[in-house]
Amino acid sequence: MKLNIAVFFGGESVEHEVSIITGHQAIAALDPEKYNVIPVYVAKDRKMYTSPLLLDMKNYRNLNSLISQITQIDLVQVDQNVVIKPVKTSLFGKKELGTVDAAVLAMHGTNGEDGTIQGYLEMLKLPYAGCDVISAAVGQDKVLQKHILHDNGLPITNWFWVYGHEMDEHPDEVLRKVRKLIYPVIVKPACTGSSVGISIAHNDEEYMEAFEEARQHDFKVITEKVVKPMREINASVLGDCFSARVSVLEEVGSSNELLNFKDKYQSNAKSGSSQGMASTKRIVPAPLDEATTEYIQKLALQTFKVLGASGVCRIDFMMDAETKTIYVNEINTIPGSLAFYLWTESGLTFPQLMDELVRIALDRKRRRDRMTFSYDTNLLETYSEGTKGVKK
Ligand SMILES: Nc1ncnc2c1ncn2[C@@H]1O[C@H](COP(=O)(O)OP(=O)(O)O)[C@@H](O)[C@H]1O
Ligand SMILES: [Mg+2]
Repeated sequence: MKLNIAVFFGGESVEHEVSIITGHQAIAALDPEKYNVIPVYVAKDRKMYTSPLLLDMKNYRNLNSLISQITQIDLVQVDQNVVIKPVKTSLFGKKELGTVDAAVLAMHGTNGEDGTIQGYLEMLKLPYAGCDVISAAVGQDKVLQKHILHDNGLPITNWFWVYGHEMDEHPDEVLRKVRKLIYPVIVKPACTGSSVGISIAHNDEEYMEAFEEARQHDFKVITEKVVKPMREINASVLGDCFSARVSVLEEVGSSNELLNFKDKYQSNAKSGSSQGMASTKRIVPAPLDEATTEYIQKLALQTFKVLGASGVCRIDFMMDAETKTIYVNEINTIPGSLAFYLWTESGLTFPQLMDELVRIALDRKRRRDRMTFSYDTNLLETYSEGTKGVKK
């Protein structure tokens, strides 16, 4: 019997449009012999929709017009199933639009890659591909992530973080920390993506500006030593905590300029290119010697493991082009295009990658179902109201 797979894409994120592209790539790669695919579009206000109209990329040119023609839905647990229900039903309209067996998440950034949608699916007991709530959240929050990487001996650049408001309270203290790192530094909000809110500062004045920009996007602001001259190398890891494999490496970009969101996507969108997130220059496999390649692959597997990741992730590295020192930059737990282009070069087709993601999702659900999360006994059977508090 075919599995009903809901592919979620969109979301309230600066990467909304990129996610629509990833979603469509994932849908096209799901084998129709094995799966019935249900597209689930999460609009920028987080409402969910489905419709066959969502399958055609041309329909996204006018999002308001698209939304007016598609069906807003909700997912509901009914008996042992997760059922898709239209939010508004007419007298003779369908009350249910089918069931879902598992979800594939193609959502990038906030509210999609950060544990939010994962938590929603956990409440529904619906298996989903990719990281669980905690690893997704850690994957999105660069502060938590860096602490875990550092604690596990993975190489990261020198850094510190403060809350945005600490700059108002004691700017001198913050500036002292920056000067200890030695300019230039790079300033980032803890939880955005696509370089949003990120800038480089060469002196105190630029730092204050960069800090102000970063705090517009998050309460937590990271300051990091700039790696320069820098080469960016990425690896994809596929699997879970039981077994994982690593792809060939890619080298991205050709200059040391910091690509901002506009450079990355908007210039490309205007020129009408369909490459989307794949627009930056990539060399696959990365031109590195065998020992360096193997070292980065080993670091990628360790990063995946210590962050508790699963599904398909992309782990980004920076190499100091002079000293050849390698740093882990960050994990992307739902990478653009699901990093399929790295797997094709590693002997796994995109449809095979999708099969693996579904398999890993169902496997996690099976393993979790065997774990104890609650007891059948009702401790309240003997409860009588008193004045004592509840001890947890
Ligand atoms: N320490 C650093 N030194 C030099 N460039 C950096 C450094 N950290 C990040 N960058 C550049 O900024 C880009 C975006 O930073 P990143 O931490 O990956 O944030 P995002 O989540 O927005 O992708 C990186 O791809 C890299 O080109
Ligand atoms: Mg990045």
